[in-house]
Amino acid sequence: MRIMITGAAGQLGNELISILESGKAEIGLIDGVYGNTQIIPADIDNFDISDMDSTRTFIKNAKPDIIINCAAMTNVDGCETARDVAFKVNALGVRNLAICAKEVDAKLIHISTDYVFAGNGNRPYCEWDMINPQSAYGASKALGEKYALTFSDKTFIVRTSWLYGYVGKNFVKTVRRVIKEKGSITVVNDQRGNPTNANDLAFHILKIAKTEHYGIYHCTGEGECSWFEFAQRIAEYSGYDKGVVSPCSSDEYKSPTKRPAYSSLENMALKCGVGNEMRDWQTALKEYISKVKD
Ligand SMILES: NC(=O)c1ccc[n+]([C@@H]2O[C@H](COP(=O)([O-])OP(=O)(O)OC[C@H]3O[C@@H](n4cnc5c(N)ncnc54)[C@H](OP(=O)(O)O)[C@@H]3O)[C@@H](O)[C@H]2O)c1
Repeated sequence: MRIMITGAAGQLGNELISILESGKAEIGLIDGVYGNTQIIPADIDNFDISDMDSTRTFIKNAKPDIIINCAAMTNVDGCETARDVAFKVNALGVRNLAICAKEVDAKLIHISTDYVFAGNGNRPYCEWDMINPQSAYGASKALGEKYALTFSDKTFIVRTSWLYGYVGKNFVKTVRRVIKEKGSITVVNDQRGNPTNANDLAFHILKIAKTEHYGIYHCTGEGECSWFEFAQRIAEYSGYDKGVVSPCSSDEYKSPTKRPAYSSLENMALKCGVGNEMRDWQTALKEYISKVKD
C-alpha cells in the first residue's frame, strides 16, 4: 500500500509517519494491513497544495492508494489577517487534492477542526450538527471540507481539536516554556474544548483509512476542559505547582480572532463505526509530558 502524507513535517504528519514506521502507537499496535506500507511524505518543500499543476504532477508520479492531508495554514490569528492565503491553502488546496485523488482513484483523508462550529452550544457537537464558522480559519477549513466531499467520492473528513504532537509548536510546549522562563502564565478560562494527543489521532486515522466507510468523523481526546484547566494539568504533570497558572477571560486576553466558547466534539462516528479508543485527555497528556523534549 502507498500512503501519501501532505503536511508531513507538521505535528500530525510526523506522528503518522512515526507510527507507520514502527507499527505501533501509544494506544497499541496498528492494523497488520499497514505492514508493507510505502510512505510518501510531502510538505511545502515538495509542492504547494494550492498550486494545482504541481499538486497534480506530484500525485500522478506518486500513485498513492491513500492521501492523508495534514497540510494547512494552522495559525488561527494569521488566517484572520491573511484571509486570501487561508482560503488558498485550507480551501483551494483541499479542492486540488480532492480532484487529484479522484484522478488516481485514491482515498482522501482530510483533517479538519472544531473551529467549523459556532461554539455557542452547551453540549458536545456531533458529526450531524450544522457548521457555522466564526473565524477566517474556521471558514476556510469549512470550505475545504465541502470541496473534499464534492470533488472526491472516497473522502473521510476527520475533525479534531487542541492538537499537540512531539514535533512542532503547540500549546503544551508554549505553556511549559513560559512557566520555565517567567515562572507563571495567565490563560483563558471561558473557552472549553478537547485536548487531543496527535499520536492517538494518528492511530484512529489509520483505523478509519483502511475502511470504505466514507464521511465525517470527530476524533478528539475524551473529556473536556478550559484552556486554563488544560494549562494547570500541563504545569502539574511537568512538576510545577498548578498555582503558577492564573485564569483570565477572553475579553482580557484580547485575541484578534473570535474563538468558539464551547467547541467540545463527540466522537459519535468513531463509537458507531471503527471503535472509539481515544484516551481521556489527562491520561494522554501525562504520557506525552513524560516523553516530550522541549
Ligand atoms: N494544531 C491544532 O491545534 C489543530 C486543531 C484542530 C485541527 N487541526 C488540523 O489538523 C491538521 C494538522 O495540524 P498540525 O497541527 O499537524 O499542523 P502543522 O503542524 O501546522 O503542520 C502543517 C504542515 O503543512 C505545511 N503546509 C502549510 N501550507 C502548505 C501548503 N500550501 N502546501 C503544502 N504544505 C503546506 C506546513 O508547512 P509550514 O510550517 O512551512 O507552513 C506544515 O508543515 C490541519 O489540517 C489542522 O487544520 C489542527
